[in-house]
Amino acid sequence: MAQDDLAVAECTRCSELVDSRTRIVNGVGPADAEIILVGEAPGEREDAEGEPFVGRSGEILNDVLRDAGLDRTVVRITNTVRCRPPDNRDPTAEERSNCRPHLDAEIDAVDPSVIVTLGKVPSENLLERSVAVTNEAGTVESVSIGETVRDVMVCVHPAATLYDRSQRGTLEQTIVEAAAIAGNPSGD
Ligand code: URA
Repeated sequence: MAQDDLAVAECTRCSELVDSRTRIVNGVGPADAEIILVGEAPGEREDAEGEPFVGRSGEILNDVLRDAGLDRTVVRITNTVRCRPPDNRDPTAEERSNCRPHLDAEIDAVDPSVIVTLGKVPSENLLERSVAVTNEAGTVESVSIGETVRDVMVCVHPAATLYDRSQRGTLEQTIVEAAAIAGNPSGD
């Protein structure tokens, strides 16, 4: 399946986000990736460039992926919500719910071995319970998503490492464990 088949071309479900976004920021990466990373929502740079995780958090994510033995190009990277919220606020429950069918459809199509949730918003969105991310980082839970049951691994958000350096190791270790579940895809 070509990557464009997974893109959402137009959506007006969230009236506030229709005004705050420049564009819909769809997921990137192989349409058959073994690992899908789910972030929160696009920030300013992502909104400007139309790609998830291309700002400061993206630089950190790229470094961590490389240190974990994974190239950014072998994983699929997407967000809980595809449109930038005003002032980068957290997406509301209604916005998460409005965008959930797009995420479920992407996950169904990619059919990954493991889903890694970067931070509280995607973790709680997919696990449908409250999550203490730092305590639960690296844990895997099987949940029903879209058409089937999937393994979801909780992970800290790359931005968390800016405020707490000790989270860097936790982030990398979680990605290493996710890569092992996925059979250490190399992209070769
Ligand atoms: N933070 C996210 O959660 N997603 C992005 O795409 C960028 C920053």
